[in-house]
Amino acid sequence: MEKYKKRSWAEPYKIKVVEPIKMTTRTEREKALMEAGYNTFLLKSEDVYIDLLTDSGTNAMSDNQWAGMMLGDEAYAGSKNYYHLEENVQKYYGYKYLVPTHQGRGAENIISKILIKPGMFVPGNMYFTTTRLHQELAGGTFVDVIIDEAHDPVNLHPFKGNVDIDKFDALVKKVGADKIPYITIGVTVNMAGGQPVSMANLREVRSYCEKHGVRVVFDATRAVENAYFIKVREKGYEKKSIAEILHEMCSYSDACTMSGKKDCLVNIGGFLALNERDVFEEARNMVVVYEGLHTYGGLAGRDMEAMARGIEESVQWDHIRARIGQVEYVGEKLSALGIPIVVPVGGHAVFLDAKAFLPHLKQIEFPAQTLAAELYLESGIRSMERGIVSAGRSKETGDHYYPKLELVRLTFPRRVYTQAHCDVTVEAVDEVFDRRKSIKGLKMVYEPKYLRFFQARFEKL
Ligand code: F0G
Repeated sequence: MEKYKKRSWAEPYKIKVVEPIKMTTRTEREKALMEAGYNTFLLKSEDVYIDLLTDSGTNAMSDNQWAGMMLGDEAYAGSKNYYHLEENVQKYYGYKYLVPTHQGRGAENIISKILIKPGMFVPGNMYFTTTRLHQELAGGTFVDVIIDEAHDPVNLHPFKGNVDIDKFDALVKKVGADKIPYITIGVTVNMAGGQPVSMANLREVRSYCEKHGVRVVFDATRAVENAYFIKVREKGYEKKSIAEILHEMCSYSDACTMSGKKDCLVNIGGFLALNERDVFEEARNMVVVYEGLHTYGGLAGRDMEAMARGIEESVQWDHIRARIGQVEYVGEKLSALGIPIVVPVGGHAVFLDAKAFLPHLKQIEFPAQTLAAELYLESGIRSMERGIVSAGRSKETGDHYYPKLELVRLTFPRRVYTQAHCDVTVEAVDEVFDRRKSIKGLKMVYEPKYLRFFQARFEKL
């Protein structure tokens, strides 16, 4: 690694196919934004210039993956691509059993239904929207046990995703371990800014859970990105490969849910992977109700092949270094301009701190939603709110959750945009920053019941 120190990274691939993108005028964007109710999820992709909404399913596949698509075995049962995927999940993630699902939330639904009974509690290192909702729909209550540093956008802790064992222990003492079917550990933690969990913390949580008979279930959606941070930040892991680190991480868990649309470098796909035979049998039975037969789980054979190949590519050092290098590049440029972002910069995105960016707005005026809308208006760049709108409402009181973090996420699809796109993004954010004092907030005029951030509508105050 020393060799790389003074070299700037470059994309470890060249471009073979291009997809033209359209630039729009400000008038066109004003109209599009009004029609979308100031919600970037409701914009048409056609009206977007640089799409930083999400890294989910937006990745560019390699020629090797596309070649694999032609080898799709579209048999209803026993597709050979299923066995290839199973082999690679076992090899790289290390779990014994695989249940494919159409995407991450399909796996979350199944594990929640099997393990959570009404009245139970599910601790986790910060919530994720779909994960918490499935836990709640199964009758569980989510409890946040992440370290306090995670809620502070400027705290420089290298592993802000870590579980606070004292908080976890307090929950176990309060409700009893028999009321806790498992702890969910997000590696990395999306809502905290793509922040990683250290190997030491994973080991510690594992030994605590073994003592108390609580399972560990990973949300492994960005586990390869987490492995990268362990390699570059945690003592003793400098010389280990990403694959070795990933394997060790997963060895401290009993199961994982996976959105293959991120780390696995595909456009659709996910899985549930497990080590316990009886839970696997139940999951394999349930997947036929909600997703499809247990050897395809809602996916085409070609999708499973692309995911199997994507897993192999995802653990390559050149890939992951450039992937996170790009995100860090944008973060460093924004920081240098004095623009408030979550630090350290995480794995999949740069998160603008909307509270610090628009300090004159109250949280109920939706600062992050406002900032995402303004950035689109300025430049055609699409980002995502990760604040009070995403947090939703408490199922007990019906009131909004008021999360400490009120963020706008500039999320980078893997292998899609160039450094020039990154530069334009920085320039656009800086232009919004220059006129921040004149920006007014929003009011919510339509609110769907579940995962409201996807479809809520707003008007200018
Ligand atoms: N867990 C994490 C940490 C995620 O980021 C996501 C999706 C899921 C689970 C659900 O997976 O979408 O395949 O059903 N995150 C996307 C995002 C939507 O934009 O962050 P899914």
